[in-house]
Amino acid sequence: MSRSAPAAGSAHGAEPPGGSSPGLVVVARELVPLCGDAPRWPGGRETRFVAADEPLPGGYLARRVEAIIPLLSRPIGAAELDALPGLRIVSNYAVGYDNVDVAAAAERGIVVCNTPDVLTSATADLTWALILAAARRLREGLDLARSGDWAGWRPDELLGMGLEEKTLGILGAGRIGSAVARRAPGFGMRVVYWNLAPNEILEREIGARRADTLGEVLSVCDVLSVHLPLTADTDGLLGEAELVRLRPGAVLVNTARGEIVDTEALAAALRQGRLGAAGLDVYPDEPAIPAELRELPNAFVLPHLGSATREARRGMWELAAVNVRRVLEGRPPLTPVG
Ligand code: DGY
Repeated sequence: MSRSAPAAGSAHGAEPPGGSSPGLVVVARELVPLCGDAPRWPGGRETRFVAADEPLPGGYLARRVEAIIPLLSRPIGAAELDALPGLRIVSNYAVGYDNVDVAAAAERGIVVCNTPDVLTSATADLTWALILAAARRLREGLDLARSGDWAGWRPDELLGMGLEEKTLGILGAGRIGSAVARRAPGFGMRVVYWNLAPNEILEREIGARRADTLGEVLSVCDVLSVHLPLTADTDGLLGEAELVRLRPGAVLVNTARGEIVDTEALAAALRQGRLGAAGLDVYPDEPAIPAELRELPNAFVLPHLGSATREARRGMWELAAVNVRRVLEGRPPLTPVG
């Protein structure tokens, strides 16, 4: 099946479909605090807010939908695309777009966009918050401080891992992985990265070294930080066989997607003390955070806060909305994927 792609260069944009009824832009209702309740679209198209757990418009309304700005929790597959015959753009409110079937969209001439760059610093900063929290046992320190049972300073209390002179392993040296790596010299850390293509800028800027294999990064790093997109190749990439290759006491941090790390294998490694600690922001079945990870003292878990700064979330809205406006005006979007 194919639909015509937006006409490039049209000054006035295409007429909304559905006769005299204006086209619709479906926006995740959770975005109202960022975009207000009346975002403006070209050609008088209207907004329909739909919460993440509500169905997309059906019936006669479905034919009017030209654009959708979903959260990462809404799967957009072939069935959703087919139910919206006038759809021209899925402007995902996230940099990751594993919730969208990009190939199915391309087959139907629908543009898919994401929100890169605007959340890079926020996510890199939170990654470092997790590296520090995990390496320095902040969860146990917080629990002890709050318990009222602290007996006073002791030379051997809650000793963690010092970062200076240690090696940070980066899986995926794209925008966020590179931003995390760039912060490493400030902590006196070396960087080894694993990426399909060499990242010469990172090598030049901070002397990062590219590993030939995943196994090589795993065996040399003290802290491993995951920054890969979720794809068929990365789903379950770090299972038991990979985690045993990490150095005893190593720290694993994941701010990418939960599915990349096998939760049971990770929990076992943490329980047995083979891994020193983990700092986690993402989980395979969000919003569920596996009970074992919530309970283990050496797991520092957060509820998917990587991009949660006012600046980043605002920037994500602006970029997602610009992409919609451009496509509705017949211009190329700024950040298409696929
Ligand atoms: C993303 O954008 O993919 C993050 O997971 C949420 O900001």
